[in-house]
Amino acid sequence: MIGIFDSGLGGLTAVREIRKLYPNESLVYFGDTGRVPYGTRSRETIVKYALEDYKFLRSFGIRAVVAACGTVSSTALDELKAISDIPVVGVVEGAAEAAAETSKNRKIGVIGTAATVRSGAFERALREIDGSIEVTSVACPLFVPLVEYGFTSPDDEITAMACERYLKTMAEKEVDTLILGCTHYPIISSVISKVLPGVKLVDIGAESAKRLMKVIGGEVADGGEMRYYVSDDTSMFEQSASVFMGSNISGSVQRVEL
Ligand code: DGL
Repeated sequence: MIGIFDSGLGGLTAVREIRKLYPNESLVYFGDTGRVPYGTRSRETIVKYALEDYKFLRSFGIRAVVAACGTVSSTALDELKAISDIPVVGVVEGAAEAAAETSKNRKIGVIGTAATVRSGAFERALREIDGSIEVTSVACPLFVPLVEYGFTSPDDEITAMACERYLKTMAEKEVDTLILGCTHYPIISSVISKVLPGVKLVDIGAESAKRLMKVIGGEVADGGEMRYYVSDDTSMFEQSASVFMGSNISGSVQRVEL
């Protein structure tokens, strides 16, 4: 069994890709919906929440943990690795490698939560790969609430306005590749693409699934069960997650107190 966590819904972008690579292995997901968003919080709080999320998942017989959250991966990965006796996979390295491979003009954009941008983690990872890459980072704090509250249709006017405002700099800087540095963002990727036509988008959830495969290898088939846990009311998560996962997950989500 593999454990995956995020502050809310966003980590499902990783679950969807992990499911494709591990169709017969059980997955357990924890979305900390009672404390979302993480990205506006201090480093200390993010580390505390991440360690608690990890400990909860560790109560299952998991063999690896994916921090399917840009904020946790860029802020608390070292702390998680330090206490963990099983592999911990984040979203930063794989996404940086994918972006560096994709970009032709070496101008790469990074969007994420305030905490992710403040950490500079994606920027460092990109520069380590190629010091000549020009990195433009912009925090997009409204995107997470827009996704959590379901403003996700490709025609949503409010989301389009937020995208235009936040992504203007990316067009000005002529980035040809944009890292969606928060796992919530692929859910609004069609709106982002309308604002930045022709720019290649890097989905950190998908890249984390590939990284997981590199770290722990192929699946251990155990029936392929899917369990979801959240720390607040289950109904909103069930609705949004069912749409996102493309199957009705009602009834399989449980609420827990950490
Ligand atoms: N999906 C998360 C991330 O990747 C969390 C966003 C948040 O909680 O602010 O950053």
